[in-house]
This record gives sequence, C-alpha cells and structure tokens, in this order.
Amino acid sequence: MKAIILEPLKPGTADYKDVPEPEISDGSILVEAVAAGVCGTDVEMVEGKYGWAPPGKSHLILGHESLGRVIDPGLTNRFKKGDLVVGIVRRPDPVPCPNCAVGEWDMCRNGLYTERGIKQIDGFMSERWRIEPEYAIKVDPSLGLLGVLLEPSSVVAKALEQVGLIGRRSFWEPKTALITGAGPVGLLAALFAKLFGLEVHVLDRLKSGPKVDLVRDLGATYHSGSVKDLDFEPDTIIECTGVGQVIGESIRKIASNGIVCLAGIGHGGSTVSGAIADVASSAVLRNNVIVGSVNANKRHWYRAAQYLARADRAWLSKLITRKVKPENFKDALNRHEDDIKVVIQFSEI
Ligand code: BGC
Repeated sequence: MKAIILEPLKPGTADYKDVPEPEISDGSILVEAVAAGVCGTDVEMVEGKYGWAPPGKSHLILGHESLGRVIDPGLTNRFKKGDLVVGIVRRPDPVPCPNCAVGEWDMCRNGLYTERGIKQIDGFMSERWRIEPEYAIKVDPSLGLLGVLLEPSSVVAKALEQVGLIGRRSFWEPKTALITGAGPVGLLAALFAKLFGLEVHVLDRLKSGPKVDLVRDLGATYHSGSVKDLDFEPDTIIECTGVGQVIGESIRKIASNGIVCLAGIGHGGSTVSGAIADVASSAVLRNNVIVGSVNANKRHWYRAAQYLARADRAWLSKLITRKVKPENFKDALNRHEDDIKVVIQFSEI
C-alpha cells in the first residue's frame, strides 16, 4: 500500500510511497482510509521541526486526524464492516504515570506517551491502517467526510471541559466567550461554545472572507484587530493562535474570575507586553486562571462526536476548504490564504 511517510526532524524527506501493509499488532480492526486532515503540527513535521520515528525505525507514517471505513472488524462485535471510524491519537505511557493509569493520557506526567502520526507510532495517512477497538471512535454516518473534523473537535472538547471544571471553583455564570483565531480549532470552539448557550466572539486578522461569514452564520460576533481594543471583558478566552501578543493581551483583557485557556501552540514572537510581575499581579487581583490544554482522552472524543453529530452539516462542510489527492500531499501542506481545513482524501465516501 502507499503512505505519506517522512524521516522525523529531517526537512524535505516527506514522500508518498510504498510501505508494508499495517501489522496486526497495530490493532485488530482493519480500516480503509477515507481522509486525513492536515494541521499545523503536520506542517511542522514536514519542515523537520517536530516528530519521532517508531523505535528502531527511521521513518514515520504521518497523519493524526483520521477518518476511515472498517474493512474487517476482527473479533470485536462493537464495530462492523462499513462503519465510519476515527482513531484516537495518543496512547498511555508504559510506566504508567498515575494519569495514564486511569485513562487520562492527555494529562500524561512523564512525557513517555506516544501519538499516532506524531510520536513513535505510525499515523493514518496510509491507504489502510489498523486500530485497537478501544481506541476507535464510531462516527455518526450522516457526518460522512465531516467525521474527519473529530480530532480537532476532541481537542476543543477538552479545552472547554477544562474551563468548565475550573469555573466551578467559585460561583461562576459565564456569559461571554472570546475565541482568538478563526482556524479550524477556533471555529469549532465557537460552534461548541454556541451549543453551550454562550455569547460568542471570534477575533482574527482578516477583515472579510469565509471565516468571517462562518462566524456570522453561527450567530457569533466577528472582530478583526487586537484583543486590547475590545470593548468588553470576556468571561473566558479560548486562545487558539499561539501568538505572543494575542496571549499577552488576552491575559490582560479577561474579566475578573475569568479563565484564559491556551490551546494554540506557537513559538517565539514578541514578549508579553509589560513585565511578567504586572501580568501576574493583574491575574492575582482578579482571580484569573491561565490554563494550558493539549490533546484529549476518550471522554473528550466521545463528547466531541456528540457535539459534531448535533452540528449543522452545511456549516461544518464549509470548514473543509480543499480536498487533495494523496499524491499531491505537498500541495495540501502549502497554506492558501482562505484555507480553513485541508484534507487529504484517500477514497470516496
Ligand atoms: C494534536 C494533539 C497532540 C499535539 C502535540 C496536536 O496537533 O492535535 O493530539 O497531542 O499536537 O503533539
């Protein structure tokens, strides 16, 4: 079969080529790939900045945002031939740390977790892949190709859960949510925050275009410009840009008792405007929480599948702005101005 493979940390090594069929040790369910989403992590990996090959191997199959169709369910009776499934990304560390021991691999404490398509386990950008029944999530069949949005949705479901859990430390009735960044994660966060009944605001750089329309179609308010110029103090901010200036301004803009959830992964950039001690004082005096959130455990995947199943299909389908054939994967990794989610489509649905 063919797969998109690369040598981690070596730029320019990504290729679409023949690899052996997936091994039964990868999981008892055999799946035909339908599509794989492309995200910033994939781009970083192809640029040679991130990623780990499986032990004893030089190459890794890329792809952690999956969607496939079951070819052979193996011995499990929870899946049948033809079911649409998505594979969970992270696996617990083998020690295991206390969090991995209780199924909270997203909160792994020793960093020895593995991730499909990212860290030491082959990913999903191959014509066929295998998955263990306990790491396969069934997708509502009516979602079709939109099921490929489940992985980023799981990341958002975790971030929102974190905010809800932290909010319960005191009496807290959040009304307004600001989402910074109108990429797939930001737009899904806006969608889910709307489902929770919040007044949703989304901030991004662009002044017009499909992202602006998508925000308005949700019944949310779009802002272009900087967080510091907003004329309200959000109860929660879900930060999806990873940009230093946006993060710094978000920490200063959040309402008293409010929670800033950092979900974007950025690098370098400008320092927090103002001394760290001043930013900290403002957080102390206003009881703010700044929380980082990465990955997702099974509870978040389950919830994300429920939220997606409830969402408007026409709106969701506008998030997928390009479908690219696997042999043209390099084109999928090249960002176009109006891209939201680009998917590599392996087979028809
Ligand atoms: C993925 C997460 C993963 C993280 C760090 C993100 O792109 O969505 O599942 O934990 O990268 O590797």
